[in-house]
Amino acid sequence: MKSQSSSIYSINKKNLLYAKKLIKQWNLVAFPTETVYGLWADARNPEAIKKIFITKNRPQDNPLIVHVGKKSDIKKYANIVDPLQKKIIEKYMPGPITLLLPKKKNIPDITTAGKSLVGIRIPSNTSAQQFLKTCNIPIAAPSANISTMPSPTSAQMVDDMIGKKIPMILDGGNCEIGIESTVVMVPKKNEILIVRPGMITKEDLLRGFPKSKVTYAKKPSENSPGNKYKHYAPKAKVYTIKTVKTMIWIIKKHKKIWLIATHEFLTKNKKTLTQFKDKLTIHERWTKKNLVTCAKNLFNLYHKCDKEKLPILLIESLTNHWLGYAIMNRINKSTSK
Ligand code: TXA
Ligand code: MG
Repeated sequence: MKSQSSSIYSINKKNLLYAKKLIKQWNLVAFPTETVYGLWADARNPEAIKKIFITKNRPQDNPLIVHVGKKSDIKKYANIVDPLQKKIIEKYMPGPITLLLPKKKNIPDITTAGKSLVGIRIPSNTSAQQFLKTCNIPIAAPSANISTMPSPTSAQMVDDMIGKKIPMILDGGNCEIGIESTVVMVPKKNEILIVRPGMITKEDLLRGFPKSKVTYAKKPSENSPGNKYKHYAPKAKVYTIKTVKTMIWIIKKHKKIWLIATHEFLTKNKKTLTQFKDKLTIHERWTKKNLVTCAKNLFNLYHKCDKEKLPILLIESLTNHWLGYAIMNRINKSTSK
């Protein structure tokens, strides 16, 4: 049964069967996961994969990750060659992590953009996992946005960006996490390299594997081509607040501004901000104590900002530790135009 728009469908048995049929016929289906909505296609089929690149306007050198339903499926498409890889799978999958592993031949080169490693992920979202298990097809799924734009965290966001280009969007409500999975690889014995930060943090991995070295990729573009492009950006110009002085300077320069800040910041600067109340829309969605909420709201706020055609977005910087590192990674990318 369709709801609201022409391509948004509720998740039920009948619609899941239809999704399976579409995917088997090399079509694309937008599907919710716990991180963001993905644009799903059969990872083994070059024609279906081409459709993903075209629909997203994605550069062809940016590899796709492959989703499977259960741990025993991983070996069908990739080789687990290091004991630490096995431990990462045991500890964190299903969940918001993607592990880069040497790919097998049944995953075509176009899916991994010619790379010998393939990113493997098992989503923890119940509908997604169930579908992958019953479908038994390896699913290539990038975030279901147009390249450079924010990843969608609701069916409506997918519809607004690519609804006209795809036959089906399954509506699983708002994504629980709101930013994409942590992408990791094991470059050497006892080493974990974080290629893209996410919900599973460096601190989590260090705690999980105290004998291993865990580092962030220094030149992310070499390890994860996706990171070299401008990304996650709303149409508005995004500024981070470095100091109160520069914040005032930016506010004075513009007519209409959205400000996303924590409760703590807004309380501290209440007097200053009141002077500009006519031009400021304040979003007190964040609190320093709850980075999970900050992650969950970020892309959603970006999208709202786009819908209202706002030119300027001012964002308070968060800590560069734990989940704050992943959130700031997204924010900093969206400030570079
Ligand atoms: O949470 C997620 O991971 C979501 C949901 C839908 O599962 N998917 C997602 O896919 O974010 P995508 O394609 O938007 O981001 C995958 C990132 C890209 O930055 C890509 O460059 C990197 O992973 N990546 C994928 N395969 C890689 C490989 N073989 N080597 C290096 N980086 C890779
Ligand atoms: Mg993406």
